[in-house]
Amino acid sequence: MTGLPMQMPRDGMSAYAYFLTVKQPTIEDLKGMMFLEASGQGLYDGLAALTDKEEAQQILARNGREERAHAHRLRRAIRILTGEIVEVPAPQDNPYHGALGFDALTPEVLEGLVGAEFDGETLYNIWADGVGNDDAARLLRQNGREERRHGDRMRKVMSLLRE
Ligand SMILES: [Fe+2]
Ligand SMILES: [Fe+2]
Repeated sequence: MTGLPMQMPRDGMSAYAYFLTVKQPTIEDLKGMMFLEASGQGLYDGLAALTDKEEAQQILARNGREERAHAHRLRRAIRILTGEIVEVPAPQDNPYHGALGFDALTPEVLEGLVGAEFDGETLYNIWADGVGNDDAARLLRQNGREERRHGDRMRKVMSLLRE
């Protein structure tokens, strides 16, 4: 089993704040991000449980599935860069898995997530520029494009919940 690197922050919020300061990701950073992305599916499933609007639930679940796919792209990038085979963690093996501490889909919560998703696109593009390998960079940019789409979808969720 692949463990979270020792030097990574212990919770997902702190990890994301740290990643936003990184320009040239190390392998440890990419592993840490793989854990954070893997936790995104549980996060979105938790959000989906906070609404009974089916279309909003489906959008949130789709974002969640793509977060897990992002973890798998990071896994591939690590393989490309080092040859090392790492595993995307299951929830019970992931220190970043867990609730973010809000219990309602308020406009503030949703707007915060939109911002985090858009920041994610910017961050992945910075990491793609800094990673030093074209194939790994392509995977990172693809994640980034999807983060933007996640942000756009969250806007759609916001309008659905206003109806
Ligand atoms: Fe992601
Ligand atoms: Fe995302």
